[in-house]
Amino acid sequence: MAQPGAGREPVPAPRWGWGPGGPPASAPADQAADQADAPAGPLPGPGQQVSFAAHIKPLFRERDRHSMSFAFDLWSADDVRGHAADILKRLQDGSMPCNGAWPAARIEVFQRWTETGMQP
Ligand code: HEM
Repeated sequence: MAQPGAGREPVPAPRWGWGPGGPPASAPADQAADQADAPAGPLPGPGQQVSFAAHIKPLFRERDRHSMSFAFDLWSADDVRGHAADILKRLQDGSMPCNGAWPAARIEVFQRWTETGMQP
């Protein structure tokens, strides 16, 4: 007895694409989220003194501060100084922020701040 479908031409799988217009632009919310992820302002140059107000505080997003308010205030120089070693460890092992590790350049600035007297 013949196999079901035997003798019939295989039907090619439908090809799907974005069409001539290409993929849709990312949604405004995604763009806003991406923006929120970028630190406000340039990172300090190699020989530049790192200060909390100018260089470290801007690295912490509003959502970071909110998420961590149960433990400390990421916008307070005193609080960050008090937890600097643990914060640096978490940044270096990539466990925080938990929705996406910082790029190395940002971690390096935080580390440099901790090694140069944690200036206000
Ligand atoms: C001493 C260092 C830190 C410790 C012990 C710590 C611990 C935690 C814990 C227990 C949570 C809640 C549950 C979890 O998601 O695991 C959390 C959430 C979070 N932390 Fe930290 N954290 C530290 C530093 C940081 C830093 C430096 C940032 C930002 C640069 C950060 C950003 C966040 C965010 C964004 C969330 C919320 C994630 C979500 O939306 O669920 N944390 N952290």
